Amino acid sequence: AEGRLTDSHGRAITDLRISVTDRCNYKCVYCRTGEEGINFTELPIEHYLRMIRIFVSLGIEKVRITGGEPLLRAGLVDMVSELAQMRTTYPSVEFGDAGKPLDIALTTNGHLLESMAAPLKAAGLSRITVSMDAVDSETFTRITRVPRSFERVLAGIRAARDAGLGPVKVNCVLLRGFNDDQIERFAEFSRTEGVIVRFIEWMPLEEDRSWKPETVVTMDEIVARLNAWRPLVDLEPNAASETARRFTFDDGIGEIGIIAPVSRPFCGHCSRIRLTSDSKIRTCLFSQIDHDLYQKSREGKSDSELAAYIRYVVFRKEARHHIGETGFQKPARNMVHIGG
Ligand code: GTP
Ligand code: 5AD
Repeated sequence: AEGRLTDSHGRAITDLRISVTDRCNYKCVYCRTGEEGINFTELPIEHYLRMIRIFVSLGIEKVRITGGEPLLRAGLVDMVSELAQMRTTYPSVEFGDAGKPLDIALTTNGHLLESMAAPLKAAGLSRITVSMDAVDSETFTRITRVPRSFERVLAGIRAARDAGLGPVKVNCVLLRGFNDDQIERFAEFSRTEGVIVRFIEWMPLEEDRSWKPETVVTMDEIVARLNAWRPLVDLEPNAASETARRFTFDDGIGEIGIIAPVSRPFCGHCSRIRLTSDSKIRTCLFSQIDHDLYQKSREGKSDSELAAYIRYVVFRKEARHHIGETGFQKPARNMVHIGG
């Protein structure tokens, strides 16, 4: 009994983000240049489930499934069912969480969501976040580079909301001069569709190294724009480790979150750890190295040996990222490989 996962900076690690594929059916301009199917890795779902079980035995409470695009992954719905039962099947004596289900969330581009929302909900998915970077079809297609994608994602968001996978969060990455004209439309979208809209500052994780500080639309700018449109009202944080600053409007309708990893890093409260689709632990989005859990499992290491390895790696989690500072180095892997 060594307690929950912690790092040397005193942070408790309670959230695991796991990528189940690095394939994606979109080619978003700020993420990847579009060569599909090159070097993609997927491991058997059983492997991911075993790793998650070990993480859960170390006190992980929230599992977020990402990709690539996770809805492309065969066996996803069954995987969610397994996760939903994990704490009942493998109750932790140490943390006394028997029967208390894991919080299971999923981040998707929404393209395949319309038909999958209800099955995912039935399997036990708790919450869903849909990435959507514009609320008009033309701009959206310019970003995703897939025809008719907007109509499909919109239908997906509505299906998720109607299936009770809510409140649905919609993530929007703003790029200056590209989709920053969409800010007010997104605010309206939150109010009329009953979804939480979250603007994310663009981080240097893209394939073609096109990131420039000037292209990032900052939290302060977004707040100013929204306030000019309709007065914002602060909302209390849900948790200390929350990535988003939350707002509503003066009439209490709509919810806006702003995630500002560039202008206001939230590393001090970070509770996250990542597992890539090739089963490498990343202790930060911006880690320069990752730790090969798959290799260790292939060597025949037992669950308790893997748990000890995870503890060792997590303890060394970096204090913070260094975006925007001199000497900053973009990690070797891109967002599509790390999992967002
Ligand atoms: P929930 O609280 O479970 O809804 O998750 P969340 O608020 O972390 O939201 P989500 O998982 O959708 O993450 C939103 C975005 O925040 C991600 O897509 C990233 O762009 C950014 N983000 C999340 N975690 C980190 C992190 O550890 N470091 C940095 N720099 N950015 C992050
Ligand atoms: N900076 C910020 N957010 C990003 N995302 C992808 N690439 C970046 C980046 N460079 C977002 C996606 C999706 C989530 C998984 O991460 O738009 O919402």
